[in-house]
Amino acid sequence: MQGNDHDFRFGRWPLCMQRGKKFHVSGYAEVSTRKKTFAEVQTERLDQAERTVLIKCPSKLNEKKLLQYLASHGNVKSHFFFENRGISALIEFSEKSSITSLQDAVGIPSASEHHVVPFKSRLFTFTLKNPVSQHVEETPLHLSPQSHIPVKDLIEKLCLADSISSQMYILLNEYQLTEENIRLRFLACSLVRDFARAYFPDSTVKPFGSSVNTFGKLGSDVDMFLDFRDTGRHATKMKKGPFEMEYQMKRLPSERLATQRILSVIGDCLDNFGPGCANVQKILNARCPLVKFSHQPTGFQCDLSVSNSIAIRSSELLYIYGCLDSRVRALVFTIRCWARVHGLTNSAPGTWITNFSLTMMVMFFLQRRSPPIIPTLDQLKELAGKHSCLCLLQLIFYCTFVLSKVINKPNLKERLYVLLGEFFEYFGNFDFRKNSINLRKGKEVNKPESSPLYIWNPFEQDLNISKNVNQPQLEKFIAMARESAWILQKEDKTQQMINKEPWGLAALLIPFGKNNSSKMKNRMKGIGSETIRSLLDSLKLNNASSQQKAVGK
Ligand code: CTP
Ligand code: MG
Repeated sequence: MQGNDHDFRFGRWPLCMQRGKKFHVSGYAEVSTRKKTFAEVQTERLDQAERTVLIKCPSKLNEKKLLQYLASHGNVKSHFFFENRGISALIEFSEKSSITSLQDAVGIPSASEHHVVPFKSRLFTFTLKNPVSQHVEETPLHLSPQSHIPVKDLIEKLCLADSISSQMYILLNEYQLTEENIRLRFLACSLVRDFARAYFPDSTVKPFGSSVNTFGKLGSDVDMFLDFRDTGRHATKMKKGPFEMEYQMKRLPSERLATQRILSVIGDCLDNFGPGCANVQKILNARCPLVKFSHQPTGFQCDLSVSNSIAIRSSELLYIYGCLDSRVRALVFTIRCWARVHGLTNSAPGTWITNFSLTMMVMFFLQRRSPPIIPTLDQLKELAGKHSCLCLLQLIFYCTFVLSKVINKPNLKERLYVLLGEFFEYFGNFDFRKNSINLRKGKEVNKPESSPLYIWNPFEQDLNISKNVNQPQLEKFIAMARESAWILQKEDKTQQMINKEPWGLAALLIPFGKNNSSKMKNRMKGIGSETIRSLLDSLKLNNASSQQKAVGK
């Protein structure tokens, strides 16, 4: 499809993004995969999640026996096992009615032992009256991993690769969401939806952010939102008669207050009665009010908010970019991993760059290549306008020719390792004092205000998505980018392999310790490039100023 097809060999794309061919995931039916819109993927996945249950299993499990029991309630379409405080099974039935049948057949703990809230959930425990008679199978259960390998192990793997581009695809392959992990994420949303419906019968709960934008990493949080849009549509349809439903129309002075009230009751409800919901925190005064909780049955940290069209559209935009070219995701995963290793990002909120901002920076860089690798948002919109039946949602159908339509000579050839080095050079030298990052135009534009890092929200122009970043964090990012550009330029793979030293991307994923400054002097010998010299000079300047600061303390 793209000019760098040979680079696909390491790509293990999750189900939602495989395109144009048939493929087979172990245990699942063969799926024909034409291109799918973001909305289609969401609908399909949510439907699948609604036919799914989660079963806690004994440590020694007879898989056949479990499936036999389940078969009496209906056809099991697919299943897998995973470890999360013991072994659990995710079971997808062909029909929703099988779940009702299973729910009707199970016992609820009697009130004398537990005080239970009579809520029929889709979480079950599998126990046999006579476990001794259960013969454990000789073949051990296959447990689908739900977390990525530690960085140390990743570095070892990377050292065995044959090029930096291959290393980047290996990293992508190890870190990206698996088919099973995506199913679990949608199931978590669907289980929360069951609960939300107790209050709001027509509501749905959908994932957004990195769970669905093609840039999700194993272990990342699940961002989910309560959606009343379907309810809204229904209400408008019904408006023809003379009646209005008062309970749906309780008027509050602001949308924000309504959001806070809704989240407050759902938060309390999850806290008091939500099966497996723990550590529920209501953060209602944030710019975007949310409820944080850990969903123990699936093992995810979740952030629940109320439908936020800007966040949904940016998830969709990133989904489109992620599907356009295989290099996009490989570069984003690499930069995000690099940033995490060097403490530039952090899972706790703070003054550091977020993964979302970092992803937008990569997109901007790819728009700025000459020729560009991805189109700007304005170009996408223009294309959408030309095809009257085509809205942005459907653009993904056309992604194979989007590039040639909006960019005269799309950049298909630039290798990943070149892009990696150029990314570091580009942002190592970016004039952050004067310029901001505008993905809509694909241009550096004057900063409208003095935030150290200004990235325009593509869907709400007055919003800076990196407003939280302070000057020291930005400086740290610039210094790391310069150091990394320098390391890549000076790369001597053969020598490093002989010395059994990490090379290429592996060398970039080791924190740059104090030893590096002495190594840096050695590396300086024999460097001809003016760019590198100026990079080093600016590094020296930075070091001197930070030393001065330290002395001043
Ligand atoms: N978002 C936004 N503006 C921000 C921050 C977030 O529009 N300033 C939206 C984006 O759509 C983002 C989503 O909220 O993808 C979730 O935010 P977050 O969890 O911070 O980022 P993720 O993209 O999900 O990345 P991560 O894997 O780190 O969770
Ligand atoms: Mg997230």
